[in-house]
Amino acid sequence: MSSEPGRRPEVLQGEAGVEPAVAVLRQGGLVAFPTETVYGLGADATNPDAVRRIFAAKGRPADHPLIVHLGDAGLVEAWADVVPVEAHLLADAFWPGPLTMLLWRSPKAPDVVTGGRDTVGLRVPDHPLARRLLEAFGDGVAAPSANRFGQVSPTTAADVVADLGTEVDVVLDGGPCRVGVESTIVDLTGDEPVVLRPGGVGLDRLADVLGRQPEVHRGPAPARAARAPGMLAAHYAPRARVVLADAERAAQVANALASAERGRVGVLGPRATDGLAPGVVELEPAGTPDEYARLLYARLRQADRLRLEWLVCVPPPARGVGVAVRDRLTRAAASAPADAPAPDPTAGR
Ligand code: TXA
Ligand code: MG
Repeated sequence: MSSEPGRRPEVLQGEAGVEPAVAVLRQGGLVAFPTETVYGLGADATNPDAVRRIFAAKGRPADHPLIVHLGDAGLVEAWADVVPVEAHLLADAFWPGPLTMLLWRSPKAPDVVTGGRDTVGLRVPDHPLARRLLEAFGDGVAAPSANRFGQVSPTTAADVVADLGTEVDVVLDGGPCRVGVESTIVDLTGDEPVVLRPGGVGLDRLADVLGRQPEVHRGPAPARAARAPGMLAAHYAPRARVVLADAERAAQVANALASAERGRVGVLGPRATDGLAPGVVELEPAGTPDEYARLLYARLRQADRLRLEWLVCVPPPARGVGVAVRDRLTRAAASAPADAPAPDPTAGR
């Protein structure tokens, strides 16, 4: 299963693709598959050589751990050493679904999957094709998001082909992803559950099940940053530089950037933005927090296709999956290259 230059992956539509995809996994190959959050780049999690191919395909540093995807919550006991009561509560409430739990790993979890850590990330995704694939495979499939390192996550099969085309053996096409941002990651290896990444399961829903508001890790606190090394700002950024603005000020900021003539400027928000100067590109508004999440990465990719230098983003309200959208936008805004000129939205006034 080696990739030849210029080779295209096999893109298989719907359920007919499941059987050949399972065969590819068994042979140590790479299968990109849809989940409800984003597309994953999967390999047999028990096969270290196959998992190593994921890192090569993505250009991802080898010490970044991967989530093990399971078709059945019953497999958690095989992959995790200790399963606290919170894990059972969360699995019953949210699996299959956009929740990843970090647990102490069992000997079954290879170092290449955990990045040498003592913990393993486990998730039962909720997409009919992912479920069919995982059930038929019968064991863990290690999968990061199916983008090249440094790109935003793919939410369509076409995004996967554009990013990783020649590196993947099979792409299962299950249409656009329903949630659109990655899973919520909850660390259950400490005294208290800690949310390491907000995602498809909102914090209020977690609190309802846990009986208390979980601690949310914010910012690059070194101790916790080491726990989720994939949380670098640049992981969620387009090439365009993202600038955050309130709805009332978005037009002013966008127009000032446009008149400073530092490249093309776009605007993205939950609603239409009035008063934009000619030449400022308005991306189609993203509506409710759920819709914003579903469309976010497609819009960021569109910004790059349009060769925007700047994207002024109005975040959605911080409720439900809106918290995850705000998290990704904040990371994108923080990841401006160090050598770029500082944004000066008042320039040209
Ligand atoms: O929605 C999702 O979670 C998607 C789909 C494909 O399931 N997957 C995804 O994977 O977003 P990835 O690799 O792009 O992001 C997973 C994050 C990374 O930040 C990684 O560092 C963290 O989870 N992670 C996984 N296992 C971990 C572990 N044992 N310890 C600490 N962090 C872990
Ligand atoms: Mg990723």
